[in-house]
Amino acid sequence: MKKITILAVIVFAATAILATNPADDPKETAKQAVGDLMKTMMGVLMQTMSAEGPAEAIGVCADTAYIIKADIEERYGVKIKRTTLKPRNPNNAPNAYEKEVLEMYAEEIEAGTMEKDEIFYERVKENGELTFKYFRPMSMMGACLTCHGDAEAVPEDVAAKIAERYPEDQAMGYHEGEFRGAIVITVPMEEGE
Ligand code: HEC
Repeated sequence: MKKITILAVIVFAATAILATNPADDPKETAKQAVGDLMKTMMGVLMQTMSAEGPAEAIGVCADTAYIIKADIEERYGVKIKRTTLKPRNPNNAPNAYEKEVLEMYAEEIEAGTMEKDEIFYERVKENGELTFKYFRPMSMMGACLTCHGDAEAVPEDVAAKIAERYPEDQAMGYHEGEFRGAIVITVPMEEGE
């Protein structure tokens, strides 16, 4: 009997510790993960752009981004996807659910009923599993246009390299301030959470 009580106390104590862990709050977890991702990506991208030029920096978005993403996914126990209605890499195309949310963003931002940086989140069942979805929208800054702008903004060597690697590219022709897409953080949830 005594043994059971001790065990119960230990289990209770462990639950109490978990419950106070910020990682248990899916919104906070997602917020921290996306903040970490954007800060790291922007740092590496801007540094490479200025040190080696935009043609070399393509590798940051195309390759380094996936290393940074995998590291953050592991650290926070989440899944990360960059998605958009106009993908450069077809692997980043939205699924039906993500497309709906992106279209909502595009319409509401256009109508002025949603801020460009407004977070959207909700609990969603995905393949029978309960998940927490967190959308961090992105709009175009001046520096993005070197690789996503119109012909005047994109240097020839950059355009050629992108065309070679991404024959189905749809992500050119943007202007500053335009809605680009979102980073979607998926946090796994327990039923009843
Ligand atoms: C040095 C060139 C370069 C710059 C600068 C750049 N990008 Fe990209 N971007 C790329 C490449 C290359 C890809 C394709 C990545 C891949 O293969 O997944 C990409 C992909 C993306 C994607 C994923 C969706 C898709 O279209 O495949 C988003 C979102 C995105 N960029 C947003 C931005 C934003 C916002 C900025 C400015 C902060 C920016 N990019 C600056 C080259 C660049």
